[in-house]
Amino acid sequence: MNQTFQAIRVSKPEDGGDQTVQFVDLSEDDLMDGDVTVAVEHSTVNYKDGLAVSGASPILRRFPMIPGIDFAGRVMRSDDPRFSPGDRVVLNGYGVGEAHFGGFAQRARVKGDWLVALPESVTTEQAMGIGTAGYTAALCVMALERAGITPDQGDVLVTGAAGGVGSVAIALLDRLGYRVVASSRRAAEEETYLRMLGADEVIDTRELAGSGRPLMKERWAAAVDSVGSRTLANVVAGTRYGGTVAACGLAQGADLPLTVMPFILRGVTLAGVDSVMAPRQRREEAWARLAKDLDIARLNQMTSHIGLDEVPRIAAEILAGKVRGRVVVDL
Ligand SMILES: NC(=O)c1ccc[n+]([C@@H]2O[C@H](COP(=O)([O-])OP(=O)(O)OC[C@H]3O[C@@H](n4cnc5c(N)ncnc54)[C@H](OP(=O)(O)O)[C@@H]3O)[C@@H](O)[C@H]2O)c1
Repeated sequence: MNQTFQAIRVSKPEDGGDQTVQFVDLSEDDLMDGDVTVAVEHSTVNYKDGLAVSGASPILRRFPMIPGIDFAGRVMRSDDPRFSPGDRVVLNGYGVGEAHFGGFAQRARVKGDWLVALPESVTTEQAMGIGTAGYTAALCVMALERAGITPDQGDVLVTGAAGGVGSVAIALLDRLGYRVVASSRRAAEEETYLRMLGADEVIDTRELAGSGRPLMKERWAAAVDSVGSRTLANVVAGTRYGGTVAACGLAQGADLPLTVMPFILRGVTLAGVDSVMAPRQRREEAWARLAKDLDIARLNQMTSHIGLDEVPRIAAEILAGKVRGRVVVDL
């Protein structure tokens, strides 16, 4: 019943010294309160996990903490009537891996409110190939659809294209019939990869990364941006009349040096996308859309696998923008 399991634990001295990362054996008694206990089969390394494990940004809100903002696995025990032992579930966000013990462990105990039952056709491994990055990409696509964007209106730009959000966004948009322009700092070396995912055109991020003008040539009908900062400002400034930009990330920075001109002269919409506290109905819709609209062959081609012991190395690499696609942690 109370066997030990492996976990990553991040600690920080009370006197404010640097955080340390340890690989530990814990028992279920060590877990935090919750009404559902899950045998975690897979987790992933998202950009936010990179910040949390490396300590590059104050993501962790209590110590010691088991990081890992998402996981997929099977329910072991449940006091929540919606879940039974054996059910396959996925968790994204809700402060898990930040304030509540997260996915870099073979067991998790969380609130049933935070769990989503996986669609029948999605395995726990595929769910974490998708991960929070891919689920956020789906939320971005849904935001564009709610704004009335359709494939006949023109190109959709995806920034940070070779990253997690970007890779899944390209695959989804292509499957839905959009002409996709992928913007990447690695345009030259990753062009084959990006076209394999479904990009119709690949541009170098440097076109968008500098200080631009308030209004630029109208190039795309819509965009999914995971980069923020000057890139997002230029993306908005280059969006066609009536277009929409879904903004979800800050890989270049959290600033946004933008004027109101694209909004008041071109009626452009900037749609913010949050995955962490997204309501259950929208989560379930996103996972259903991923089950229906994401090509599993393409998901497999964007996914690599690591063990728990490799998480700190990948955490550093994702912050350096060196990770391609998605990295699944096999537990
Ligand atoms: N709103 C939400 O709820 C939510 C959810 C998930 C993720 N996010 C955010 O979305 C972003 C992407 O997450 P992810 O997991 O996809 O990370 P990721 O795999 O590291 O992808 C980010 C990509 O952005 C590009 N990039 C990195 N640094 C850059 C820089 N300085 N300037 C321009 N481009 C840069 C790189 O793509 P190229 O090499 O192709 O240029 C990189 O692969 C992160 O900021 C993350 O925090 C937000």
